[in-house]
Amino acid sequence: MATVSGQLWVQVCLLVFLTAVQILAGRDFYKILGVPKDASTNQIKRAYRKLAMQYHPDKNPDDPEADEKFHDIGAAYEVLSDADKRKTYDRHGEEGLKEGSNFDPFGSFSSFFGDFGFSFGGGGRRGHDHQDIPKGGDVLVDLEVTLEELYTGNFVEIIRYKPVARTTKGVRKCNCRQEMKTTQLGPGRFQMMQETVCDECPAVKMVTEEKILEVEIEQGMRDGHEYPFLSEGEPHIDGEPGDLKFRIIQLKHDKFERRGDDLYTNVTISLEDALTGFEMDIQHLDGHMVHIVRDKVTWPGSKIRKKEEGMPNYENNNNRGVLVITFDVEFPKGSISDENKEALRKVLQQGSSQTVYNGLQGY
Ligand SMILES: *[C@@H]1O[C@H](CO)[C@@H](O)[C@H](O)[C@H]1NC(C)=O
Repeated sequence: MATVSGQLWVQVCLLVFLTAVQILAGRDFYKILGVPKDASTNQIKRAYRKLAMQYHPDKNPDDPEADEKFHDIGAAYEVLSDADKRKTYDRHGEEGLKEGSNFDPFGSFSSFFGDFGFSFGGGGRRGHDHQDIPKGGDVLVDLEVTLEELYTGNFVEIIRYKPVARTTKGVRKCNCRQEMKTTQLGPGRFQMMQETVCDECPAVKMVTEEKILEVEIEQGMRDGHEYPFLSEGEPHIDGEPGDLKFRIIQLKHDKFERRGDDLYTNVTISLEDALTGFEMDIQHLDGHMVHIVRDKVTWPGSKIRKKEEGMPNYENNNNRGVLVITFDVEFPKGSISDENKEALRKVLQQGSSQTVYNGLQGY
């Protein structure tokens, strides 16, 4: 009996071991991120960002599965976003990465927080009560982005020259506070006075460090949108650094104007097209063509509304605003021969009609 259960025990151990090995060796990072094998770096980043937000432990505090998923996503991102690691992985799988590299199979938190600024709305590392810890200043940086970038989304790298504290020789006073000190002056006589008491800390000096921050321009972000990087602001010698915030400044576009999620554009057509109808393509912000067919007469100021051709909505990228095209009609210059005038009268059949009005109707 004892040997049977012993064997069983070995089998169970072996099974557990094998599963563990399989988990470490055989993860499909492409599947984890839900991207195709030939995905671009941009695609990978976008997929990662979306999933990391979704499965972040701060958002799923009681779900151990989410935690595991979060680590898988981190590991997948770490490998697939790095050209060398990705190549190794494509050739030898996850197993190949472990030989002679600093790959962390559980996905590193440092790269997670280091690469992207996440806005978890009050979550993150500042969850606990840190009220009395002094904080360095917040830094707000304007980031000019084109309408094209806001339409398709983009990642931009920003080099931040950041002052950081490095310890040097010597000491400095730190953690200073006011304390009451009682001195006995004589029998029964005491003096109480307030005194500044400090600790001694190693001296520090500020050195400038170069750091590359990756900012994601998300689809549909609006002018003035602020994008935080926790703890990347000004350092505080005795406390935490402030935050760095990017503010999206939408640049003017020469063809499209944005109002909310709707886009507006103007098109000038010839009088001939206005009368006889036309077909045309307008190149959109990502290069795709918006096809327009008009059969009826188009008068100056008439509008065509194209649904789903506006900006993607920031909260839900699947929703898009409308594209409103306003037409302007260019009249021919010069004069028309008597013969042609007669022909035009015949075609238009409008007769001669003039209405005089004061131009203030409706006011
Ligand atoms: C279209 O024309 C109107 C009137 O001239 C102008 O106010 C508007 O800014 C134009 N829109 C674009 C996108 O150029």
